[in-house]
Amino acid sequence: MSKNEVVMNPRKVAVVGCGFVGSASAFALMQSGLFSEMVLIDANFEKAEGEAFDISHGVPFTRPIKIYAGDYDDLADAAIVVITAGAAQKPGETRLDLVHKNINIFKSIIPEIVKRDFQGILLIVANPVDILTYTALKLSGYAPNRVIGSGTVLDTARLKERLGEHLEVDSRSVHAFIVGEHGDSEIAAWSSANVSGIPLHDFCEMRGHHDHEGATAEIAEKVKNSAYEIIQRKGATYYGIAMSVKRICEAIIRDERSILPISTMMDGEYGIKDVVLSMPSIVGAEGFISKVPISLSEDEIKALNKSAETLKSVLEEALE
Ligand code: NAD
Ligand code: LAC
Repeated sequence: MSKNEVVMNPRKVAVVGCGFVGSASAFALMQSGLFSEMVLIDANFEKAEGEAFDISHGVPFTRPIKIYAGDYDDLADAAIVVITAGAAQKPGETRLDLVHKNINIFKSIIPEIVKRDFQGILLIVANPVDILTYTALKLSGYAPNRVIGSGTVLDTARLKERLGEHLEVDSRSVHAFIVGEHGDSEIAAWSSANVSGIPLHDFCEMRGHHDHEGATAEIAEKVKNSAYEIIQRKGATYYGIAMSVKRICEAIIRDERSILPISTMMDGEYGIKDVVLSMPSIVGAEGFISKVPISLSEDEIKALNKSAETLKSVLEEALE
């Protein structure tokens, strides 16, 4: 081994960007017990330092973990770097409106990480997450399994929570996915949705709900608009995404091979190529392992292709 070679610490995580989402994610990760070291990095060092102090005061209530503010040299040996740095939506803005600002921020962050010979997984969270995951993949030159986005893990959690509430069952027994863009063109994959193996519509009948079209349309719309509703009321979303970040890190660090709708590069699936979006995927120590080809109806495949086209046109315009 050469003198400068970085040895990865499988118990270390770095969070780049310590605003609402970065600090809430760091708080969730501190409580998870997955890591023994966490470095917080932000363009505003004092903000990172303040968050590190504050979060570290919870450590005696969980498991030992060293938490500190640092710089890019400190992330070289991390197993996962979570990137939440970037502008967030203001009321009325879409995620796609953030594209120019946040691609520029990524142009300053990703080369700094690559310079440090980082060997782990890049988990992109900043928005528009699909476009920024694509950007991070291209800027880093890393293998596609190492660059993943939180994608529709959050939207899928929102869908399960809504369905659990509607059907009065534990949301963990609901198996349903939001696929495509993490944003306005996302798709609820109703045709494969089930509750503990019972097709969704059959389960709805069992629970006394008979207007399937009306209920699914309303729930999908509510899920899609969740972020707008929250941002209008409190300015930002961060707890749901923090739990999603924790869940993805858990699947990686424990090599769980969990099926999560992270966003990754499409490679011809459903006729879609060279664009990053979310499909259920096996997630483990290598990051992305493989996509899970859930069955989609013709309309869902059409909507997925439309979502891919929306993302491609934004990317083409942004990279011009
Ligand atoms: P925020 O404004 O509170 O925090 C952003 C942080 O990034 C700030 O602390 C800022 O100093 C830092 N930053 C900016 N440029 C930087 C750079 N070059 N290097 C390091 N740090 C830098 O915003 P937020 O509410 O935390 O949201 C952050 C991002 O996460 C937004 O893009 C938002 O849309 C996104 N988000 C994504 C999801 C998801 O599901 N993927 C959910 C919620 C929010
Ligand atoms: C969300 C963010 C804004 O909460 O992407 O969905």
